[in-house]
Amino acid sequence: MNFNLSEEQLAVRDAARDFAINDLLPGVIERDEHQKFPGDQIKKMGELGFMGMMTSPKYGGGGMDTISYVLAMEEISKIDASSSVVMSVNNSLVCWGLEQFGTEEQKNKYLKPLAQGIIHGGFCLSEPEAGSDATSQRTTAEDKGDHYLLNGTKNWITNGNSGSVFLVMAQTHPELNHKGINCLIVEKDMPGFQVGKKEDKLGIRGSDTHSIMFTDVKVPKENRIGEDGFGFKFAMSVLNGGRIGIAAQALGIASGAYELALKYSKERKSFGKPISQHQAIQFKLADMATNIDAARLLVWEAALLKDQKKDFVKVAAMAKMYASKVAMETTVEAIQIHGGFGYVKEYHVERLMRDAKITQIYEGTTEIQKLVIGREILR
Ligand code: CAA
Repeated sequence: MNFNLSEEQLAVRDAARDFAINDLLPGVIERDEHQKFPGDQIKKMGELGFMGMMTSPKYGGGGMDTISYVLAMEEISKIDASSSVVMSVNNSLVCWGLEQFGTEEQKNKYLKPLAQGIIHGGFCLSEPEAGSDATSQRTTAEDKGDHYLLNGTKNWITNGNSGSVFLVMAQTHPELNHKGINCLIVEKDMPGFQVGKKEDKLGIRGSDTHSIMFTDVKVPKENRIGEDGFGFKFAMSVLNGGRIGIAAQALGIASGAYELALKYSKERKSFGKPISQHQAIQFKLADMATNIDAARLLVWEAALLKDQKKDFVKVAAMAKMYASKVAMETTVEAIQIHGGFGYVKEYHVERLMRDAKITQIYEGTTEIQKLVIGREILR
């Protein structure tokens, strides 16, 4: 594997870093505290090309590779994981899913504004009784000839209120189990679409996570993605790629916490010297740096495999499982290095620890990643 980054890739990383420091860092603590959606910042991310990075320029995207995407995700996640989840869902689930499997009409109508960041989208798979067990969809899409009648409730939807277009999984032929599920492109202003409760979360509190209710929503047939019954396969395929984005988010949270801890350890003095000169702290820094490097190699390997159009499913799941574990461990140790200061909001690391936890849950829990890895090994 050749990981010599090109000039273009380095420029993307630097642009993401500058944006994160200049536009996301100011107010990040207040947005977290008051659960305030970073609306202006997300708009600017669209203008800078971060909302449809991998989408072809033909459909308004940046036409970049997955390596560039994970570099940008890492930098943005170091500072504000609430913003990076909005970016990740839009790029890897919504835009990528539409570009890979949508019709020309769907791409022109929906993908273009999504990839340009004019609007952003959500991915509706989870339900009150279908989280990890995603085949058990209760939301129904009744076939009415020229349209589907959509009924049901979705849970934990990232961009649930701020998004305009949603990819919704729903059951059309229950007798066929997962082979009866369809994915429909649903617009927020279709009659019967209702945004439900906003979740009061432990972390990524700036992002808007809502339940969504559908009551007799008429969705035109041309809004179905793929053949009748392709919805579950679609969701699984999209999540395979989405995991690379969340792995990069976890990596960014870990490296953000590590950089803060390293800086603090050089400034803070105890027993007459900077605490970085104490072996107890050096051991922690050594573990953090090693684990982060290992996580980054997995994230980049998954991205490279995807760019080379090779099978990336196993490595993407490995990257997400490992990077999210490293994010959790590193953020906890970053607080420990900060001592009492780490426990207060001003020093950022407590927020990073709260943000880290979700990376072990969404787009498939750690246990689901193990299942995917196990299946791929035995296949
Ligand atoms: N890639 C492609 N296809 C896959 C797949 C994968 N990773 N995993 C399963 N499939 C296919 C199977 O090949 C099978 O197809 P066939 O019937 O044609 O053979 C079909 O899907 C059903 O598979 P299984 O019989 O193995 O189904 P299962 O119920 O035993 O397990 C599962 C499936 C892997 C557990 C799946 O339900 C799963 O991934 N669950 C986790 C769901 C998830 O990640 N949710 C996250 C919500 S989205 C989110 O978080 C976004 C956000 O807002 C941040």
